Amino acid sequence: MERYAGPILVTGGAGFIGSNFVLHWISQNRGRVINLDLLTYAGNLGNLAAVEGIPDHVFVQGDICDRRLLDGLLAEHRPAAIVHFAAETHVDRSILGPAAFLRTNIEGTFHLLEAARSWLAALAGEKRAAFRFLHVSTDEVYGALGPDDPPFHENTPFAPNSPYAASKAASDHLVRAWVHTYNLPAIITNCSNNYGPLQFPEKLLPLMINHALAGKPLPVYGDGRQVRDWLFVVDHCRAIETVLERGRVGETYNVGGGNQQANIDVVHMVCDLLDELVPESPHKPHRQLIRFVEDRPGHDRRYAIDARKLERELGWRAQETFSTGLRKTVQWYLANKAWMNEVTSGAYQNWVHMNYGHRGEKKSAAPSPAGAR
Ligand code: NAD
Ligand code: DAU
Repeated sequence: MERYAGPILVTGGAGFIGSNFVLHWISQNRGRVINLDLLTYAGNLGNLAAVEGIPDHVFVQGDICDRRLLDGLLAEHRPAAIVHFAAETHVDRSILGPAAFLRTNIEGTFHLLEAARSWLAALAGEKRAAFRFLHVSTDEVYGALGPDDPPFHENTPFAPNSPYAASKAASDHLVRAWVHTYNLPAIITNCSNNYGPLQFPEKLLPLMINHALAGKPLPVYGDGRQVRDWLFVVDHCRAIETVLERGRVGETYNVGGGNQQANIDVVHMVCDLLDELVPESPHKPHRQLIRFVEDRPGHDRRYAIDARKLERELGWRAQETFSTGLRKTVQWYLANKAWMNEVTSGAYQNWVHMNYGHRGEKKSAAPSPAGAR
């Protein structure tokens, strides 16, 4: 891979996907990354230990709502692109406290767009023509699918159902408006559920792995038959790299693994992998730890992504299958228990209590109404 024509500014590069992206970018020798991250509960410098102190990684702790900071970073580093990951991302947290989601996801994106717009206005020639603003978004903006609906495509109308999804949809609309009104050279990607190393254990997979290893209950919401379309995080990073290189300005590209799985099946797979990889575990068989608990309010029934535009136009393909990716993921968490211990100390325990303490266990998974959305 060639070095990019200038440094890139990444926001949220200490979170799950952002840190995987930074590590991937630098491992490909693509050039310098200016990594702006507020280090909220979800951001962790430990994710970036492999690039600590190297000249191609410049970390800046700061807020995307801080316009003065943004202006200063753009003027100082003159990036060739902005890749915008920074966000509040957990649906359950958005239900319990939506304000932070509106601030970071909507206001923060607004400030970043405005900073990029005014910086670009002072540029000319090749530098201006080559500049890209890549907004990393989610399939949740499209709402929920019924069992027989076709997967979301780029023209599926927005129908966000959670405060998180609504805040991301609003940020997508802002980006679209800045392209059309101000000719900002932006592109949007809407991706399905990611999994892999370095994911904060509030999300399904690392939470289940962490609980299973500790012999704690595995809390499956509702009947566990909700469907998600899982993509290995490095495949998402490669998709972003591809869109940065060859994506068309003003376009949206859906990114997904073509890999729809019901939650309960995913949890079963994790349990079975742990049975195999930790044969001495006193909690075997790990499936015995599964508990069906009170559902997430407004829980979207099914997501699925049609990624054919990205495949056809830009030649991207997911490289990891779910079975190889899941095995790698479980092996990574087993090999990185110190990382898990670090991120689950302190405030994390309060979150687990707040989100799970009130959820009564259901006797069994009650069947859901047919076609429930
Ligand atoms: P994450 O929660 O793991 O990380 C978010 C990062 O943003 C953290 O490092 C945090 O410190 C930082 N941040 C939060 N507020 C900030 C602010 N005001 N200023 C600067 N930094 C701030 O998130 P993730 O799962 O890596 O998701 C990254 C992006 O990808 C998000 O925009 C998300 O909507 C999108 N996305 C995620 C998934 C997924 O499955 N995780 C799928 C599709 C799209
Ligand atoms: O679809 C993309 C989205 O995927 C991203 O935009 C979000 O940032 C990311 O968090 C993720 O959202 P989900 O809500 O799908 O992910 P989560 O890991 O929270 O949950 C996955 C599924 O598992 C969902 O149907 C809820 C269920 N679940 C989750 C947790 C944490 C449980 O059954 N039990 C749990 O304890």
